[in-house]
Amino acid sequence: MPKHEQAMRRHFLEAAARRGFSVAPAQEAAVDRLARLAAELARPAWTFPSPPRDLYVWGPVGRGKSWLVDTFYEGLPTGRKRRLHFHDFFRRLHDGVSRPGGRHDGQSAVDSALDELIGDSRVLVFDEFHAHDAGDAMLIARLFRTLLDRRITLVTTSNYPPAGLMPDPLYHHLFEPTITLIEERMDVLDVTGPVDFRRVAADEGSGGGRRRFATGVCVPPGDAALEALGLTVPAAAEATTVQAHLRELPARAVRGDLVWLGFDALCETATAVPDYLALAEGFATVVLDGVPALTEASADGRQRFANLVDVACDRDVRLVLIGSDPLAALPAGQPLTRDLDRTASRLAMLRRAN
Ligand SMILES: Nc1ncnc2c1ncn2[C@@H]1O[C@H](COP(=O)(O)OP(=O)(O)OP(=O)(O)O)[C@@H](O)[C@H]1O
Ligand SMILES: [Mg+2]
Repeated sequence: MPKHEQAMRRHFLEAAARRGFSVAPAQEAAVDRLARLAAELARPAWTFPSPPRDLYVWGPVGRGKSWLVDTFYEGLPTGRKRRLHFHDFFRRLHDGVSRPGGRHDGQSAVDSALDELIGDSRVLVFDEFHAHDAGDAMLIARLFRTLLDRRITLVTTSNYPPAGLMPDPLYHHLFEPTITLIEERMDVLDVTGPVDFRRVAADEGSGGGRRRFATGVCVPPGDAALEALGLTVPAAAEATTVQAHLRELPARAVRGDLVWLGFDALCETATAVPDYLALAEGFATVVLDGVPALTEASADGRQRFANLVDVACDRDVRLVLIGSDPLAALPAGQPLTRDLDRTASRLAMLRRAN
């Protein structure tokens, strides 16, 4: 076995051991393939007739897809690599496209924004690939063409098999050429194992006491619960505003790298993913009070909350949710909308403290 392949395999085993688990059977093929890819990428590009094949890792929530590709990314010795999250990618692309003074000659604004994002990378790791509308379809098609032209290897994760991308029948046909391209160009790996590891972690931790996981914690309102977290309710005089993406948001307090916001002010007003990304860049902890059961939030509020949880998970932001259990009263056993499904998995890590 080539030494880089061996080194990457060892890196995976050590990374799992550090977190107290081992590679699951459903993940083994992905580990093998990623280790081989590491070896392929270690060779000088000119020794290849074509770049190493792309990889598309898919499966339901909580199967360790992000862990697999993040661990791979971290273990790659090359500096010529980029990791992008879907939300982030689109925000940056839109920023690049709409920036005044951007290039509008010959090469399109999209292409020059892509240039900037991809730089001289040989491998691009793109977590949570999904497509919702015609704009996404256009940008993703463009991304694929650029990667092909530049001989860049793409590693993506998704909750959908390629044919299930862009599920909206209104737009699906727009995406079919890209799906064909994915199926031809990428090695598709299904990591659907029997368990959602997030739920397992949450259940194992449920032996009483406060639930505290990497992502955060969810507590009922009341001084005692807050005190246990070292928090005090903000005084009226602490009220301030924080800069989000292109707007200011009212905050109940800012204390160092902690920001305290109300659910209504954040999720029931016209905020969007770029705002949550801006908060994640500025703060390590986001406290959200007045959290309702999601059945009581508006449909937009639910979607915004799902996106917020997504960003918090991706950016290692600690979320402190104060209020009701957001997942209480959600119809059990009934399939949730796809984004809520992911939120439910993620929130399983920070279920209500009792
Ligand atoms: N083999 C494993 N055994 C136990 N836990 C694991 C294993 N692999 C990954 N995990 C853990 O499971 C949790 C969920 O993994 P991860 O976030 O990678 O899931 P995902 O497939 O990306 O989910 P989503 O589709 O929601 O993005 C993480 O905390 C991760 O460290
Ligand atoms: Mg993931």
